[in-house]
Amino acid sequence: MTASELRQKYLKFFADRGHKIISSASLLPENDPTVLFTTAGMHPLVPYLMGENHPSGQRLVDAQKCVRTDDIDEVGDATHHTFFEMMGNWSLGDYFKKESIAWSWEFLTSAEGLNLNPALLAVSVFAGDGDAPFDEESYNLWLEAGVPAERIAKLPKKNNWWGPAGQSGPCGPDTEIFYWSGKEDEVPASFNDDHDLWVEIWNNVFMQYFKNTEGKFNLLQQKNVDTGLGLERVTAILNHCDNYQTDLFWPIIQKIEHLSAKKYLSDGGTTRSMRIVADHLKASVFIIGDPRGVTPSNIGQGYVVRRLLRRAIVQAGRLDINTKTDLNWLNDIVFVIIDIYAEAYPELAENRDAIMQAVIQEAEKFQRTLENGLKEFDKIVVENNLVKGQDVFNLFQSYGFPWELSEELALEKGWRIDRQGFEQELAKHQELSRTASAGKFKGGLADHSVETTRLHTAAHLLLAALRQVLGDHVVQKGSNITAERLRFDFSHPEKMTSEQKSEVEALVNEAISKKLKVSFEEISLTDAKESGATGVFDSKYGEMVKVYTVGHDNGEEQRNWDDIFSREICGGPHVESLADLGHFKLIKEEASSAGVRRIKAILEY
Ligand code: SER
Repeated sequence: MTASELRQKYLKFFADRGHKIISSASLLPENDPTVLFTTAGMHPLVPYLMGENHPSGQRLVDAQKCVRTDDIDEVGDATHHTFFEMMGNWSLGDYFKKESIAWSWEFLTSAEGLNLNPALLAVSVFAGDGDAPFDEESYNLWLEAGVPAERIAKLPKKNNWWGPAGQSGPCGPDTEIFYWSGKEDEVPASFNDDHDLWVEIWNNVFMQYFKNTEGKFNLLQQKNVDTGLGLERVTAILNHCDNYQTDLFWPIIQKIEHLSAKKYLSDGGTTRSMRIVADHLKASVFIIGDPRGVTPSNIGQGYVVRRLLRRAIVQAGRLDINTKTDLNWLNDIVFVIIDIYAEAYPELAENRDAIMQAVIQEAEKFQRTLENGLKEFDKIVVENNLVKGQDVFNLFQSYGFPWELSEELALEKGWRIDRQGFEQELAKHQELSRTASAGKFKGGLADHSVETTRLHTAAHLLLAALRQVLGDHVVQKGSNITAERLRFDFSHPEKMTSEQKSEVEALVNEAISKKLKVSFEEISLTDAKESGATGVFDSKYGEMVKVYTVGHDNGEEQRNWDDIFSREICGGPHVESLADLGHFKLIKEEASSAGVRRIKAILEY
């Protein structure tokens, strides 16, 4: 069965059971400041899991594009990817465990579905702890479906609980389904999820809790089902091959074989390099070609694409592909990738020229700096065989070396690199790195002109005032600031009243009239959190953050703030004092998307 047949079969199976097929959301989340990319099918659906009405109803089914970079170092083995597709069926306050488990089992084992041998399947359920009880209902439902007790493992939260990692959000116990990928006659009678040959293929989350920022679990107003079935993995299982030998990858691998005159699986190093080239270029094509796509840069999502592309180029070099004088190899591979997905994701073909251009430009940029960087690398002085984080950062900053490249060069000399030190330097030096790396949180400054900067500071005042007037549930969802006006998205379930609007305006103008000072400190994420700063507390790039405070400042080195009006994690830039901010005026307050309001405001002089 090909991947597109599997995709279609899955969508149809659930459409026949009352689910509306919805298309994949963008890979770049619009209103979620907590992640850089859509990492699971549930991300774009969070407002609906929390109770907003979905325009397509309460039963949905989709195949969602996802990018996860947490495991980027694992890519190169047979199963890890940065880009993958997750198929999912959703109940938004409709059916729950009974139907979810019965349908999953039916889809996997019936002729209408995948016809998998039930003797090769096993499941796990949540064992229970202080936050939530043992999921006895799921356990019994699996027994009813015919799964023998010894193939049902009861596991703790670490294994059988799903929710956005380390943050607040909807979550709940899950039940996972595993497939025995070893020889049929060697399948163990009992199930142990530590065994490598048991591969997790499907995760059904019974999302009925909300984890708040204090880590407390409260019941959601509705019970939801969120399931995730990995397209790449299941295609591989159905075809008895590894993920890279499925039709989602094989044409790319063949192209790489041709370009390198090497064979996949001929030796470990070759195989790993081929997989990295295939995986990283595919992810890059999807990120650049997304309707909200980004091109390589030094911050946030753009930095991820840069890293993916440069890692791919380094690995292609290892395969002896001529990456120096001729960039056609990149075009060739990008073509193949777009072809594979032409039907499922037509946006790629539509954006073909832009994708090619971005990829080639990045490769050219990388090449120009590579040689100089290599010379620079040879000048590095190391102590105790450890390359300092600062040196790795300088190579990145000046020559665009992904840290992986420095690491490889270091390894050749028997050295190691201080990766943590590198990440700290990166966080410290990249203006906006924190906010941009944490998503689209504050991506929206049109320029750094005086007017734009003033409005940026005004946006901080606005957030603080909104939280005072409407409550602490208000968080920033996005902003777009030009020299003329600011646009600000924030979470709030209903239209603001005119009294609330006047109150917000008055609070901001009062702060301005007090000529409060603005300044920033670089402190650890933990300290920032403890000091009550607002902002995004989840980051991939190190621990130091910039926190801007607006208040009375005694001006001494040992700061003594009083009358703090606003305190926010932010990359800047901001004015130093509110003295010349003018008069703040709300122009418009309207709905932006489910649970999100949008304000337009100006400063008048
Ligand atoms: N959200 C769950 C996961 O990502 C199920 O879709 O595994």
